[in-house]
Amino acid sequence: MHKNNKIYLSPPCVDDAEIKNVCDALHSGWISPLGSFTDDFSNKLSRYFKKKVLLTNSGTSAIHLALRLSGIKENDYVLCSDFTFAATAFPILYQKAIPVFIGSEKETWNLSPEFLNEALAGLKKKNIHPKALVIAHAYGVAAQMDKIINLCKKHNILLIEDAAEALGSLYNGTPLGKLGDYGIVSFNGNKIITCSTGGALILPDDDKYLYAQKLATQAKEKADYYKHDELGYNYAQSNILAAIGNAQFDKLNKKVTRRREIFNYYLSFFKDKIEVSYQKEYKNSFSNRWLSSFIFPESVNKKIKESLKQNNIECRYLWNPLHKQKVFKNYLFYGDKKLEKQLFEQGISLPSGDNLGNKDLQKITGILEKHL
Ligand SMILES: Cc1ncc(COP(=O)(O)O)c(C=O)c1O
Repeated sequence: MHKNNKIYLSPPCVDDAEIKNVCDALHSGWISPLGSFTDDFSNKLSRYFKKKVLLTNSGTSAIHLALRLSGIKENDYVLCSDFTFAATAFPILYQKAIPVFIGSEKETWNLSPEFLNEALAGLKKKNIHPKALVIAHAYGVAAQMDKIINLCKKHNILLIEDAAEALGSLYNGTPLGKLGDYGIVSFNGNKIITCSTGGALILPDDDKYLYAQKLATQAKEKADYYKHDELGYNYAQSNILAAIGNAQFDKLNKKVTRRREIFNYYLSFFKDKIEVSYQKEYKNSFSNRWLSSFIFPESVNKKIKESLKQNNIECRYLWNPLHKQKVFKNYLFYGDKKLEKQLFEQGISLPSGDNLGNKDLQKITGILEKHL
């Protein structure tokens, strides 16, 4: 069932399990950031990542906490993916640090290890030593993490993995979000699983977990009265949101399977009809295919977008590169401007929600077919 008969890009899909959990949370009286659902949800995530996990009220706040825990402060340099959502980079500015944007590779559209190397050499000449890298896995497809991890180790750079879009994706069998010093996922309404809004921070050890938990709850010191020695935030996740997340997490595998089927459906539809490019899934990686995204030839791109809109079907531009955004205009960029322009101007994300039935897919491809 689609609201107003509209086919959405990536809508939240909930059923009786989420409704039951939310009712149970309300009945229990635990509607604060504490309760059995926050315990269960963080335990499930900790088992999945085999690391300590702190629930947060958004993916953005989890990135901010990761930067705080990494010791990032005013005027520090932080490397960052360029082809991603602005929330990957905003927390760098919250810390008054200085982002340096690194461009994409053609294969995965993710941060290119070659451009990263180039940036490190360029910054060294300027006597700049970046302290951290925030890397995003665009649309749930893994970046080339072996090369990126090696470069970070070699240059003593902390790695923060923004796996907001990549829950359920793997690299060498390891969940994305677990490979960096810190990792984050998002449970925003359009993500593969959602709590309506919410996120999680994946941490290296118990001490960091306890410190992150303290910062996320207004940095209260251990005392019988209100004592605050450092800056804190209100970033914890409520038990009601965790009630939704709990039920959603149990369906993660099914959701990944369906999203991959949808991606492969589009791919086989395009075969022999039109040449499209798409994100490569390297042999050692497995993508949740959060959004099925393709680069179409210029000749059909605009017509496809208009036609889908006229038929009440939502689609999206790909990311407008961060180095092009007014808010980030003063910062350095190392990469291929032409490639990023092409991704933005010729790319389209097609409906990818796991609620899409085969009839919906036939309707979408029926409309696309008229323009191919
Ligand atoms: C790559 C990326 N990073 C960070 C975020 C921020 O997550 P949230 O919306 O949960 O704050 C999102 C999604 O919104 C995202 O797509």
